Amino acid sequence: MTKILAIETSCDETAAAVIEDGVFIRSNIVASQIEIHRRYGGVFPEVASRQHILAINTVIEDALKQAQDSWAEIDAIAVTRGPGLVGSLLVGVNAAKGLALSLGLPLVGVNHLEGHIYSNWLDHERRGKAPRIKFPSLALIVSGGHTELVLIRGHGQYEILGRTIDDAAGEAFDKVARILGIGFPGGPAIQKAAEAGNPAAFDFPRARLGDSFNFSFSGLKTAVLRVVQKYTNTDKMLPPDEGPPARMPVADIAASFQMAVVDVLVSKALAAAEAYNVKEILLAGGVSANKLLRETLQAQADRPVRIPPLWLCTDNAAMIGAAAYWRYQAGDLADWDLDVVANLRLDQG
Ligand code: KG4
Ligand code: ZN
Repeated sequence: MTKILAIETSCDETAAAVIEDGVFIRSNIVASQIEIHRRYGGVFPEVASRQHILAINTVIEDALKQAQDSWAEIDAIAVTRGPGLVGSLLVGVNAAKGLALSLGLPLVGVNHLEGHIYSNWLDHERRGKAPRIKFPSLALIVSGGHTELVLIRGHGQYEILGRTIDDAAGEAFDKVARILGIGFPGGPAIQKAAEAGNPAAFDFPRARLGDSFNFSFSGLKTAVLRVVQKYTNTDKMLPPDEGPPARMPVADIAASFQMAVVDVLVSKALAAAEAYNVKEILLAGGVSANKLLRETLQAQADRPVRIPPLWLCTDNAAMIGAAAYWRYQAGDLADWDLDVVANLRLDQG
């Protein structure tokens, strides 16, 4: 039995988890900073790293306590080393190094996006057995900072088939929520507003970019801004605490925007799955919490689709422990000079 203590601090969640044999979640602690960043309408990097420093020791202690493990039972320390905010990543990496050094344990560096993919490997239903994912598989990673279609030929063997050429899907949700004046983080706010809206009310653009598997969301964001400007008579974003003007059809705009994003994500993912004849499709990243995206992909795919439960979609350390496991087994350990990489690519380790 292998127990890995994993740490994740790449953005605005301070998280630690103990994962057994790469799949069993012994503990999963996430301290979210969302309330702190809400007043800025986005993640404020300096504030984020400072909050990580305040929370990290308690979060790690809680993860060990919830797992009912002692340090003597832990086999390795894993930590996210990128991509993410440098100041935030450094807090996790330094904590991990300190622990590994003082306990004499191996250190494993993990790519945050690989972590999101591996949230699908966790035994989140507590069935007592590992999900058996077949290769080649296709991951659609949709987070606040990334939108990527990735071909996975085996553990650690990634080929990026396509990515966004401008905004990430989550970023588009966050920016459009700001344009609409409905709050942060934008994804949940838009999903909620869209519930009462007509997704066909506005015919927002879908950037197809030919046959490529790349994405573009900035034109869509601008199209939403143009509609909103008709109601606000200003080209500025709405102040977050004032809310949208009463006569603006917020629900219809949110629903139409959400439909346009989901439409493009699902059609490109299905085209890539077909082109590479993958055995399974794995959805991952914060935007995979989106109900319409989950339901549409599940309904339209002609092969198995795996989607993490809502509590594993946004940032957490359980997924980092899952991704670390195969690296640990393969002997892919980090040295003491392990550094953080803000824009670490999935195909660069
Ligand atoms: O993976 P994540 O927690 O952090 C990053 O690695 O970026 O993703 C956060 C992103 C945010 O942009 C947030 O608005 C989006 O995920 N998100 C959603 C939903 N829940 C979170 N987007 C659409 N619908 C949701 N329900
Ligand atoms: Zn993430």
